[in-house]
Amino acid sequence: MVKIAIIGGSGLEKSSLIQSVSTKETETKWGTPSSPITEGILNGVPVAFLSRHGYDHSIPPTQVNNRANIAALKEIGCTHILSSTAVGSLREEIHPGHLVIPDQFIDFTKHRICTYHETFSDGIKHLSIADPFNESLRQDLIHVCEKLKFEHHKQATVVTIEGPRFSTRAESQMFRILGADIINMSIAPEAILAAELGIPYATIAMSTDYDAWRENIAPVSWEEIKEVMKANTQKVQQVFAEIVSLIASHQ
Ligand code: ADE
Repeated sequence: MVKIAIIGGSGLEKSSLIQSVSTKETETKWGTPSSPITEGILNGVPVAFLSRHGYDHSIPPTQVNNRANIAALKEIGCTHILSSTAVGSLREEIHPGHLVIPDQFIDFTKHRICTYHETFSDGIKHLSIADPFNESLRQDLIHVCEKLKFEHHKQATVVTIEGPRFSTRAESQMFRILGADIINMSIAPEAILAAELGIPYATIAMSTDYDAWRENIAPVSWEEIKEVMKANTQKVQQVFAEIVSLIASHQ
């Protein structure tokens, strides 16, 4: 029996598609998750929705309690985690409004707790995470984007920065040289913690801007991100609505 968690990022603070059964405040050993968790049914499939930055987007990236979020989803029996994230594009061909399904990340965060293993008193825990996103979930996301005819990119490396500030032009250029294709302020350590708890995880990214690497073009602003997200959030919702039954059909 599947129960699919959806972590909504910027622009997806609430999911109107879920037929809600209950919304509960929860506590974990690691603290309080970013939002109450709404459990319900989406296209006939049990799902649980959590808002990464809170319903009112009051939690900045550094303050997101990723450990509590992932642990809470595990505790209620989630078998898979899908998330959404707004990203800047570091490549000409990834236009604002395009969807991207990353297969790699680079963790450039600086002030986040990135493990459940605070001590090695229970044994040595060095996680292998060479392929950090679940390939079956990624393929399902790609399949759904194809079916819905949404412009999308099947592979990408996402670099996660600490934020909340955006990058300088020099940093933006550097991330391109390092091989990153898109940039955001989430995903690491969310994906790492899901891997530590053994929950298959993948993300659908919405490109909202060209960050700061392009000469003669105004650098990214939050206003720009909000505009693009508003125009495109519907696409991400549609992807989630379609994918849940596809995932359930494989079980
Ligand atoms: N989220 C959306 N666009 C971004 C950017 N350019 N940098 C970091 N996070 C982002």
